[in-house]
Formats: sequence, C-alpha cells, structure tokens
Amino acid sequence: MSSSNPLRDPADRRLPRIAGPSGLVIFGVTGDLSRKKLMPAVYDLANRGLLPPGFSLVGFARREWADEDFAQEVHDAVKEHARTPFREEVWQQLIQGMRFVQGTFDDDDAFERLRETIGELDKAQGTGGNFAFYLSVPPSSFPVVIQQLKKHGLADQSNGSWRRAVIEKPFGHNLASAEELNAIVHEVFAPDQVFRIDHYLGKETVQNILALRFANQMFEPIWNRSYVDHVQITMAEDIGIGGRAGYYDGIGAARDVIQNHLLQLMALTAMEEPSSFDADALAAEKTKVLGAVKLPKDLGANTVRGQYAAGWQGGEKAVGYLQEDGIDPKSKTDTYAAIKLEVDNRRWAGVPFYLRTGKRLGRRVTEIAVVFQRAPHSPFDHTATEELGQNAIVFRVQPDEGITVRFGSKVPGTSMEIRDVSMDFAYGESFTESSPEAYERLILDVLLGDSNLFPRTEEVELSWKILDPIEEYWDRHGKPAQYPSGTWGPVEADEMLERDGRSWRRP
Ligand code: BG6
Repeated sequence: MSSSNPLRDPADRRLPRIAGPSGLVIFGVTGDLSRKKLMPAVYDLANRGLLPPGFSLVGFARREWADEDFAQEVHDAVKEHARTPFREEVWQQLIQGMRFVQGTFDDDDAFERLRETIGELDKAQGTGGNFAFYLSVPPSSFPVVIQQLKKHGLADQSNGSWRRAVIEKPFGHNLASAEELNAIVHEVFAPDQVFRIDHYLGKETVQNILALRFANQMFEPIWNRSYVDHVQITMAEDIGIGGRAGYYDGIGAARDVIQNHLLQLMALTAMEEPSSFDADALAAEKTKVLGAVKLPKDLGANTVRGQYAAGWQGGEKAVGYLQEDGIDPKSKTDTYAAIKLEVDNRRWAGVPFYLRTGKRLGRRVTEIAVVFQRAPHSPFDHTATEELGQNAIVFRVQPDEGITVRFGSKVPGTSMEIRDVSMDFAYGESFTESSPEAYERLILDVLLGDSNLFPRTEEVELSWKILDPIEEYWDRHGKPAQYPSGTWGPVEADEMLERDGRSWRRP
C-alpha cells in the first residue's frame, strides 16, 4: 500500500489507538471511584483490545490484601460495573499483571516495595518502565504521595521510559490551595507528565460540542451576541450525597461541579476555533475564555445556593441534607448552586451564561442550551406566535445523548398558528457503537500521553479565580435556601432569571 493510503496514516484518528507497553498504579484503590469507574474502565479497555498484552495494574492501599484478594476485588468491580461483557480469556490475561502493595502514604517501606514491584513487572510483563500513577485520593493526601514518588525515584523517566501522574479533582479548595498544590506537583513532575482529570471532558457528548461547532458551517455564523440571547448550562442530579458525607460537606455543589465540569462546558461552548486540534491549541482557547469571564457586580442578586430538604424522590421519601448520616446539622454546605457569568469579549459581550447544578433535583440531566433571540420582526399576527418560544440548540450531554434543535412550526389546519417543535439527533439512533465511558477514554489517553482532554494548570487556576469571590460572598452572607428534594431547586433561582426576563428550562 502506498503511504498516501489513509489507513496507513499514523495521524488517522479513526484507527483504534492502542496503548504501548505500560502499567497503572492506583492510589486509593479501595475507594468508590476506583471500584465503580477505574477498575471497570481498565477491563473495558482490555476487552476492546486497546491495552498492550502485558498491561499491569497495581493497587496501593492500607488493607491487608494479597495479590489474589486485590484481583478478586477487581473481578467483583468489573462484574458489577463494566460496560462490556465479561470474557474469561480477557480476564485471565489481565490478571497476570495484577499486583497489590500494602501500606500507608507515609510508609517508606511500602513505596520501596512499590518500586520493586514495578521493576518486577518490567521484567515479567514487559511494561518497559512506563507507569502512570493515579491519585484517586483526598486532596490532603496529594502532597505526601507526590513527595513519596519523588523520594523513591518513582517519578524518574530513564532510558526512554515515561512516568505520569493522574490527579483526580478536587484540585484544591480555592485559588491559593490550588496554586500550592500545583507548585508541589510541578516540583516533581514536568507539565507534560501531569494529567488532571475532569471526567466530563471524556464524555462523547462533550467532545461533540467541538465537532458540531467546528466541523460544520451552519452553526458558527450565529454563535455570537448578534443572535444568541443567553446560554443555560444545567447539570442536575436526582441522587443525594449517598455515602460521600466526608468528602462533600464543606465542599458543596459549586466547588464539586461548577469549578470544573460546568466551567469546562462553558469554555467549550464559548471558545474560539483553535488553530488545530492539538492539546496546546485547545488549552490556549479555553484559557482565553476562562480569563475573559466577568462576574456580575451584585453577587447577591446573581448567584443562588440551596440545600435539599426532605421531600419525595422517584416515589420515595428522601431525607434532607442536614439529616444525612455524617452531616453537621448546622452545615451551610450548598447542594445546589446557580450563577450568572459573562464572557467579556467581542463575541459574547452582554450575553449571560447561566450555570446551575444540584443534587436531589427533579431528574438526572446534563445539558447545554444555547437560546437564541427572537426574530427581529414578525409578519404574523401576535396571536399566531403567542405560543412560540425562543429557538434553541441543546446539547443533551446525558442521559439520552444527542442534540435538539428547537424552532417554530405551523400547526396544521386552516388558521395560522406557530408553535415550538424539536428536531432531534440521538446517538442511539444514528450510530451502532455504544459510547465508551469517560474513564475509558481518559485512562487510554493517559497511557498514550495524549493530553487534549485534560485541563491545564492555568485552566484550573482561572476557574478558582472565578469561583473564589462567589464562595467568599456566600461565606459572609446568610445560608443556603432550602428546596424540597425532587423539585428543581430553590425559588430564589427562578427569581434570579425572572429578574432578567428569562426562565430556566425544565428539561
Ligand atoms: C463528580 C462529582 O465529579 O461528578 C459528583 O464529584 C457527581 O458529585 C458526579 O455526582 C457526576 O458525574 P456523572 O458522570 O454521573 O454526571
């Protein structure tokens, strides 16, 4: 075949990208994230043939486990949570590279054992010294783990091998703590060795924002202040905090979700077209948008925080946040947050971006709605368009992944009446492949060293810069408004939009 054959082109992104010799070490392997997402994702990648034959998975935790106990844990997690069917032959291959290292993060002997284990896997499994260290641990443990990796030579890349650090959110608590953490991480790892996880960027529907905007001609000309009235980004969850009281209390909805997922969604929706699809070009455009965000002067009128009270969720009684196990009954932590932002540049000046998220809301849905201005002039009698809303393009991030375009259409009949209709694109109907889980995509990218879908230091810090004044304002003023579980949040959030002559969508 000639080198011009696209099937042979190494830059052809349609070809399956398969990781080279490598292994993954997970710190915090007994945690929820590891069991529900990370271990199943590793199996799903192996099952799809995207991991090298000698791929190795090392768990590091305090539990008194032998390698077999760890393998059993992975097995159970995979059986329960993997996306793809269980195949014994894939499992048998994967299990060859599974090891467990017992210890605490301050235990030098344990890190020595980890070093030896990696050396042994290089020989037995051919991992070539290439290891990613996944820190699925509370932020308070980042510094000690990073320092231990340095102290025991685990971050050193020698003889052409690579070492990478994967860091889960939350990355800090505010700008100052994020800067401190960044300094600690970058003392040990170079920027291209650090992969900060924002799992929303691993979702197909989120990557599709860029495809829709920049691979097509018909959307971009209207994607600006001349046509767009406002943008609404909603991430609603029906679940409460479950067993995560320890993590969640004191953090709250805005830090948990707006600082990372929602601001990233906003950046992708608002950014300029990057000069190419490479990581530097993408990061540069996202950074410009985040740097251009302007907060409203009156934070009291343009932000709302709420806390779920008792109510009904899916036909069942739900307790309020303050009655949840492990929550301080006086807690002021927000389980709902809504904020209004502007992107102060030529494309978006004057267009509000409304971001909201909450737990125990009406249903689970994440969407980005770009809502257009009304037509500047209507030749129809006002009675004909009384029922007509504003045109909108809605990215349905989850569930029911797809895109909806909403516009007016004549109601059939002899009179002229125009009402809203929807044109839907659904992933499930247009494609036969099911979407990989976000963590599959992101773990594979880490192993391949592809950093497109990982926020950079500057993005994380700029996002805290946006959130910090809001959190400080909330600290100084009152407490969260209560909303019954199973509703769409506090009435104050509806009032916030009403004052602007707008209303929240009810997805
Ligand atoms: C996490 C938050 O980042 O995202 C959780 O910490 C939240 O509080 C979760 O429940 C939601 O993720 P997804 O992919 O289910 O929308």
